[in-house]
Amino acid sequence: MAFVVTAGPTREHIDPVRFLSNPSTGKMGFAIARAAAARGHDVTLVAGPVSLRTPRGARRIDVTSAREMLAAVMDAISCVTDRPVVFVSTAAVADWRPAKCAPRKLKKGQMSDVLKLVRNPDILKTVSRSFASTQKPLLVGFAAETGDPVAEAKRKCRAKGLELVVANDVTEKGAGFGTTTNHVTIVRRDGTVERLPMMTKAAVARRIVRVCEGLCP
Ligand code: PMT
Repeated sequence: MAFVVTAGPTREHIDPVRFLSNPSTGKMGFAIARAAAARGHDVTLVAGPVSLRTPRGARRIDVTSAREMLAAVMDAISCVTDRPVVFVSTAAVADWRPAKCAPRKLKKGQMSDVLKLVRNPDILKTVSRSFASTQKPLLVGFAAETGDPVAEAKRKCRAKGLELVVANDVTEKGAGFGTTTNHVTIVRRDGTVERLPMMTKAAVARRIVRVCEGLCP
């Protein structure tokens, strides 16, 4: 199988020295790329700005913004013609970007005039709508929540046309951003819910890859 995995944050620049972003370190996405490569799959890892070593056997494409990440994902998926594709969207993609990126560093007084935000494309939704049903990748999303992760995961599964959603409560100690462990629940399109205990991100990744293998023909 071919795995296309996104990891890390995106950065949406306001000017050359300032940006909007989030605390994602890429650990969860890199663990998925590593687990898939270790199982012998063809892996393309589309990484936002993070400082992690590329997993052995993975092809890495570095990007900065959500729009760059979308373009890299579409290219990587379109390149595969000979095997089933799984797209795992682990990245914490910025939903908004500044309407304009100033070419030079802004003066403090100029900031409030410039910071008009526009929506970024939704990468998962775009992939879901761009491929005919026979070529559509198996779509795996994450849900970073601060409330009821399972309810929100079920909603995202339907709204984005996903096969499964991996929900994590990012306010829980030892889970979510920057940790080496995670506490996730895997929600499938058919409503099945699998609650995993607190595990290392490597172990969570191995479980996700096995679930995907079971779903691909
Ligand atoms: O990188 P780490 O430090 O290890 O942290 C891991 C993590 C917390 C980032 C990871 O476990 C996680 O939860 N990733 C998803 C973060 C997120 O953006 O969740 P969301 O609920 O806002 O988005 C839902 C899904 O839509 C995600 O699969 C996301 O990749 C995708 N998305 C979101 C916005 C957007 N514009 N395009 C997208 O495709």
